[in-house]
Amino acid sequence: MSKPSRNSIDPALSEALLTSLIASRKYRSLDLPRETVLDLIQRAREQTDDPREVDHIVREKLHHLVAPYLGDPDYLECQHDLDAAYQTNDPQTIKIACQKILATHASTRERLSILPQFYERLFAFTGQPHIILDLACALNPFALPWMELPADVQYYAYDLHQPRLDAINHLFVLNGMAALAIHQDILVNPPTIEADVAFFFKEAHRFEQRRRGCNRDFWQQIHARHLLVSLPTKNLTGSHPKTEQHRRLVQETIAGLPWQIHEIELENEIVFCIEKDV
Ligand SMILES: C[S@@+](CC[C@H](N)C(=O)[O-])C[C@H]1O[C@@H](n2cnc3c(N)ncnc32)[C@H](O)[C@@H]1O
Repeated sequence: MSKPSRNSIDPALSEALLTSLIASRKYRSLDLPRETVLDLIQRAREQTDDPREVDHIVREKLHHLVAPYLGDPDYLECQHDLDAAYQTNDPQTIKIACQKILATHASTRERLSILPQFYERLFAFTGQPHIILDLACALNPFALPWMELPADVQYYAYDLHQPRLDAINHLFVLNGMAALAIHQDILVNPPTIEADVAFFFKEAHRFEQRRRGCNRDFWQQIHARHLLVSLPTKNLTGSHPKTEQHRRLVQETIAGLPWQIHEIELENEIVFCIEKDV
């Protein structure tokens, strides 16, 4: 790698890389926010002067950020299945349709076996929320039938992936809720909504890969009484325990801050319930 630069890469090259990535076959259907790719390019430019290295760093970071390897449903089919399920008005049929969608992404598939207790345990600790932020939500809002939320809940779900957000808004509308799934890079542009509870599930370790140390500022900027940070207790293949490493990540992130942490450990996920206003 060449030495850290003074950002001498030609701005036209940055623009060309931005356009080619957003329009590429791999990413064009996702409609990624420009701010995300620009941020990755700017950070890479701080590491190197070499345009080929910038290109390589940005492509690698973007691949892990979007993480196509974690899985996706067929979004059109997903909307049809939801319409059919909601037409029956039968809670069990609705749960089956949502479960099928949750099973298509690794993060929510791993949570299926603990779903019946997951939100019950979290809300027993936080109280029932009326305003929720689901930060880097992926398909987690499809767990709505297990959350037992009040009818007037405001559920803000943030992601970079437009087809995911469209499917989530479809779900919200079928539930009679406001369409609050929002296309926003939460690291570049943290949400300013004041919430009772913020979910930041299975993403903090990935944020560290994008930008080391970024969680501390990010968590401080989230306006929620309870920030629920969850992390997997094993790696993706299940071969390595991760609890201690992830506990360290959380402890280092909040070192010196007057925040209380309460841990809820489930079969394959640990939730750090952070009380920010104590
Ligand atoms: C590992 S999944 C998150 C899993 C989900 N929170 C859960 O536990 O079910 C990563 C998701 O976060 C989204 N994401 C990653 N970085 C983001 C950012 N800076 N802003 C918004 N969404 C982001 C990705 O698009 C992807 O859908």
